[in-house]
Amino acid sequence: MQEKTVKESSITSSHLMLMEHAGNFLFNKNNPIGLVHGGIIMKLMDEVAGMVASKHCRRPIVTVLIDNMYFFAPIYIGNKVILKSSINYVGRTSLEVGVRIEAEDLKTGKITHTNTCYLVVVAIDDVGRPTPVPRIKPESDEEKRRYKEAELRNKIRIDERKK
Ligand SMILES: CC(C)(COP(=O)(O)OP(=O)(O)OC[C@H]1O[C@@H](n2cnc3c(N)ncnc32)[C@H](O)[C@@H]1OP(=O)(O)O)[C@@H](O)C(=O)NCCC(=O)NCCS
Repeated sequence: MQEKTVKESSITSSHLMLMEHAGNFLFNKNNPIGLVHGGIIMKLMDEVAGMVASKHCRRPIVTVLIDNMYFFAPIYIGNKVILKSSINYVGRTSLEVGVRIEAEDLKTGKITHTNTCYLVVVAIDDVGRPTPVPRIKPESDEEKRRYKEAELRNKIRIDERKK
């Protein structure tokens, strides 16, 4: 199967956080300052990672695991949310997609890194069985570092599953 580069499938997407992204919580006494609902960010993250994986595999894919879902900093209504997503590592039928999430304050231009998480995605065939995916070719030093780190996380996940 043809080897592909990381750049071929990488995606950066931007989204303006509107009132609807706070849902009912905006008017709740627990959320008086207009925080974005975490589930909105998780949905955007799953979507972008899915698109990256689909671009790489050109097959149906399913998310099997989301790692490191931890918000370092809040995201507010009116912020621009930026998701930078690319493939870190490829196994036989699974791959790890990394998503870096940033929030930009459009008034000041200040960009805050709010989260980096890792999604394991599996390519499936027409009847839902795992199917082989194209190899990945990390080129830059950063891509090579991410590949090594993801390979280690993959080993840890395999060990945990065995337990
Ligand atoms: C994904 C799925 C098809 C895998 O089936 P499975 O019988 O576990 O398949 P396998 O054991 O052969 O594993 C297939 C690959 O997934 C990886 N995998 C499976 N479970 C995993 C887990 N919990 N963590 C990390 N990797 C996992 C395996 O390591 C293997 O990777 P590799 O081929 O690159 O080595 C099955 O678990 C499934 O359908 N899950 C539901 C997915 C879903 O509905 N997601 C939400 C909607 S998108």
